[in-house]
Amino acid sequence: MKKQLLATLLAASSVGAWAEGQVNIICSVQAEWCNMIGTVYARTTGIKVNLSLKGSGEALAQLIAEKENPKTDIWFGGTGDPHLQAAEQGLSIEYKSPSLPQLHAWAQQQAQQSGFKTVGIYSGPLGFGYNTELIAKKKLAVPKSWADLLNPALKGEVQVANPASSGTAYTMVATLVQLMGEDKAFDYLKQLHKNISQYSRSGTGPIKAVARGESTVSISFVHDGPGEKINGFPVETITPSEGTGAEIGSMSIIKGARNLDNAKKFYEWALTPAAQEMAAAAKQFQLPSNKNAKNDPRIPDFKKIKFINYDYAKYGASAERRRLIAKWEKEVNSLPR
Ligand code: F6P
Repeated sequence: MKKQLLATLLAASSVGAWAEGQVNIICSVQAEWCNMIGTVYARTTGIKVNLSLKGSGEALAQLIAEKENPKTDIWFGGTGDPHLQAAEQGLSIEYKSPSLPQLHAWAQQQAQQSGFKTVGIYSGPLGFGYNTELIAKKKLAVPKSWADLLNPALKGEVQVANPASSGTAYTMVATLVQLMGEDKAFDYLKQLHKNISQYSRSGTGPIKAVARGESTVSISFVHDGPGEKINGFPVETITPSEGTGAEIGSMSIIKGARNLDNAKKFYEWALTPAAQEMAAAAKQFQLPSNKNAKNDPRIPDFKKIKFINYDYAKYGASAERRRLIAKWEKEVNSLPR
């Protein structure tokens, strides 16, 4: 991290008191943002930050595995559905932040429907990423709709993550089921399978493959596009014309946290405008949940996007998430391409 940027962020931090001890965080956003919050939080509070970077589905699997002997204090980021599942399974604790009224309605709703066991920290729309140079070179049309992704000319040209490990990919499955109805959505996913070159582990893998020219198109959160562009890659994003879903990136305090006080301190800090503005400083362009955070102009304009009315409670329920992922494994991922 550049020295000047770090100095600015340290000055902007609202946590003044010097504290001690440690906090163990599973971080499910991109490494640059995780490392920035870890460094800034540790330097401003004196609390040692131990970070473990995991995709949303993998983070949930780890929390289930360590349920009897938790090694994690707080889970920062990742799509909201597995956070709701963690709440339902008793893996996280109820905590009502005094900052809740400062948050957008969608972030507060995420807290309410989990019995205050999680909270929204950012949001972002699902869409497609594409490599402008490869699209032109291969004389392909930019896909503007879910239907366009089935174009046989895109065989082997599309990447998306695996919904078992990635919250991004689970958001895609849940979005299609809500948009088309379950039978049509699974027919669609089977057709799409023919065009998929690879199901990556992490949700951001496909747009990084697009950036590097290893894939022409990705199914991704569109807020992950501008960061690749800033890094000099020929990447653009688009949201599908039929409508799409959005994630409510969330944060939860883990039941049995060994450093509970420090987990709560970090939680409060992570809801402040200064902490949320670090996303853009780390080239991440999700919409912050605190209404007072400054919105970078590269954050997707939600008003211009056609959204479905995503049912977070239904698709964040354990049984539904497990059922849809198992069905996708059995009926889609097992098919030859
Ligand atoms: O960090 C980028 C991001 O797109 C987040 O907005 C999202 O919560 C997360 O990745 C999901 O990652 P994954 O699909 O690997 O669970």
